[in-house]
Amino acid sequence: MPLHAANLHQLSPDLSASSEIAALWEVLCGEAVSASANDPALARAMNSAILYHGSFAQALGHRLAQKLANHDIDIDELQAVVAQALHNEPGILVAAAADLRAVKERDPSNSEILTPFLYFKGFLALQGQRIGHWLWRHERLHLARHLQSRISEVLGVDIHPAARMGKGIMLDHGSGLVIGETAVVEDDVSILQNVTLGGTGKQSGDRHPKIRRGVLIGAGAKILGNIEIGTGAKVGAGSVVVAPVRPFTSVVGVPAKPVGRGHTGLPGVTMDQTLDEPDYVI
Ligand SMILES: CC(C)(COP(=O)(O)OP(=O)(O)OC[C@H]1O[C@@H](n2cnc3c(N)ncnc32)[C@H](O)[C@@H]1OP(=O)(O)O)[C@@H](O)C(=O)NCCC(=O)NCCS
Repeated sequence: MPLHAANLHQLSPDLSASSEIAALWEVLCGEAVSASANDPALARAMNSAILYHGSFAQALGHRLAQKLANHDIDIDELQAVVAQALHNEPGILVAAAADLRAVKERDPSNSEILTPFLYFKGFLALQGQRIGHWLWRHERLHLARHLQSRISEVLGVDIHPAARMGKGIMLDHGSGLVIGETAVVEDDVSILQNVTLGGTGKQSGDRHPKIRRGVLIGAGAKILGNIEIGTGAKVGAGSVVVAPVRPFTSVVGVPAKPVGRGHTGLPGVTMDQTLDEPDYVI
């Protein structure tokens, strides 16, 4: 199954990406200042997490290190690892910025970037996995595994460091999400809580799902095996998907079956959670 390289890891930032990140950083600082002003009890937290830092990269490194450090690897050590990854692969930051914008635009319970940056488990876990993926690709497998384990313990999200994650991804809530080693999740995908992108237990090697661009996966869905979920597809909550899904198609049920006549647009972006019109009239 060919990878759609165009939809995955376009991570080399250009000038416009750098200025977008700078603009995002300004917004984040502005929101932190407002939060401090509205509630002085938060002033120290906002200073430490955002306002003491000179850039989005530094603040992100600090936040990840603060969340994921423990007695094995402390904050300073972890912050240095994250800084090294961000320096060597600046596209990780581009992806993080796209993820943050995605959460702001798609999550109806949130209208800013400060809250996901500080608190949303799905956002933080995904950024931690991006660092783990960089370590994995540089043969630092045990450190990548250490990060995977910490992310799972602290944030309840278990994404293998080898899994390939695009950008502009929203992992809503994050809790209970499991993504296996050979899974691919392309750009502009949204995944709700308690989803598994796993193997069937009967395949070896490349054995996990390939989630194409703009897919929306509902809460509790289990997608099993090396199957392709086509661009713009929609998977209903609680479904068990064991067969490929065609692009722009909705599937629901156990085992999941197509419903409706298909749709246009990318539900992973629009968060359109309606099922398509049935192709009959009563
Ligand atoms: C149940 C399971 C073992 C079946 O695997 P399998 O023998 O390859 O089964 P197939 O894919 O050939 O499917 C056989 C039939 O059962 C259905 N089916 C398969 N898995 C199913 C499931 N979990 N629930 C309901 N129906 C299922 C298939 O749709 C198919 O139906 P059909 O004959 O009407 O087309 C496997 O799908 C499974 O659930 N494994 C556990 C995987 C898991 O938990 N992974 C998580 C890893 S993190």
